[in-house]
Amino acid sequence: MRGHDLISIRDLSNAAIEALFGLASEYAAEPNRRLHAAPDAISANLFYEPSTRTRMSFEAAMLRLGGQVINMTDPAASSAAKGETLADTVRIVEGYTDLIVLRHPREGAARVAAEFARIPVLNAGDGAREHPTQTLLDLYTIFQEKGRLAGVTVALCGDLKYGRTVHSLVQGLARFGAHVVCIAPPGLELPARFAQLLGSVESYPDFASAPLDACDVLYVTRLQKERFADAAEFARVQASYQVSKATLTRAQPDAIVLHPLPRVDELDYALDGDPRAAYFRQAAYGVPVRMALIAAVLGLRQIPVDPPVEVWTPDDAPFACPNPRCITHAEPGIPRRAETREGVHRCAYCEAKEEAACPVC
Ligand code: NCD
Repeated sequence: MRGHDLISIRDLSNAAIEALFGLASEYAAEPNRRLHAAPDAISANLFYEPSTRTRMSFEAAMLRLGGQVINMTDPAASSAAKGETLADTVRIVEGYTDLIVLRHPREGAARVAAEFARIPVLNAGDGAREHPTQTLLDLYTIFQEKGRLAGVTVALCGDLKYGRTVHSLVQGLARFGAHVVCIAPPGLELPARFAQLLGSVESYPDFASAPLDACDVLYVTRLQKERFADAAEFARVQASYQVSKATLTRAQPDAIVLHPLPRVDELDYALDGDPRAAYFRQAAYGVPVRMALIAAVLGLRQIPVDPPVEVWTPDDAPFACPNPRCITHAEPGIPRRAETREGVHRCAYCEAKEEAACPVC
């Protein structure tokens, strides 16, 4: 995987994910050890959105490998405030570091950064689109807690429309043979492009109607308040769901509760002392899993690169992306490209689809 980007969970084959998990377990066995594996390496955290866990666990991972980290955590205090584009910033930062970890509010931003930077780019969340490194630690946690992924029933709960962790996780779960149940307030259901991966989707509007007794994992998510286009839509769903001890009485006795965190109202604090509350263990796995990923892309450890799950071949025809949250609408200088397959154009960055105009009429 040396030199590779991680933009979508699709960039990793199942074999590569399993190999990364093996390496993560090696690192997790000695969690407080500082290695000297990467004494010359420097990574850059470019965070255009708030973060605690993702940024700090990436930083801790690099420090544990023996490398160093430089941070841009406040776009208001960087040249972004003067109007510098992401494409320019990453071409500057590649001159300073060996690796870029990027979080950005615009969908497709990580793909743009990867196209312009010659060093590996790891997507730490691009708007409501994907968060593949969170998926690695989510899958790793399920594997550690349940001993397998195939056949495990996972309920994805909450804001499945805007939750980027879910958008990456559902792909991973589908590929490893887990069974997925969706529990989302009306209007916040899983978008069709992800639901298609599951074949037929079992979808419920609330915990009361969902078959919790069949679930091994409850993966709870926060309402992504910052992504709602209008305040009335948010007010309608605010405080519409919460997982409490009472909710768990209907789940499998050994069902675990996961959450990418931060939580707001959707997880009762009274759950924290329950051994089934696995969300703090999950967050801690962020360090060894990200150590494994960094070691792989820096070439410190060999992780095989198998054929990607999907091959992208965008053409050079100009394309106006229909997604208003796409990075191409916010930044000049990005070639607006799409892939065209069976009459459908798909933005090369955010992957939003648009029917091609009929060549006859
Ligand atoms: C998530 C994110 O940023 O998408 N947090 C994280 O990375 N652990 C989830 C969230 O903010 O709700």
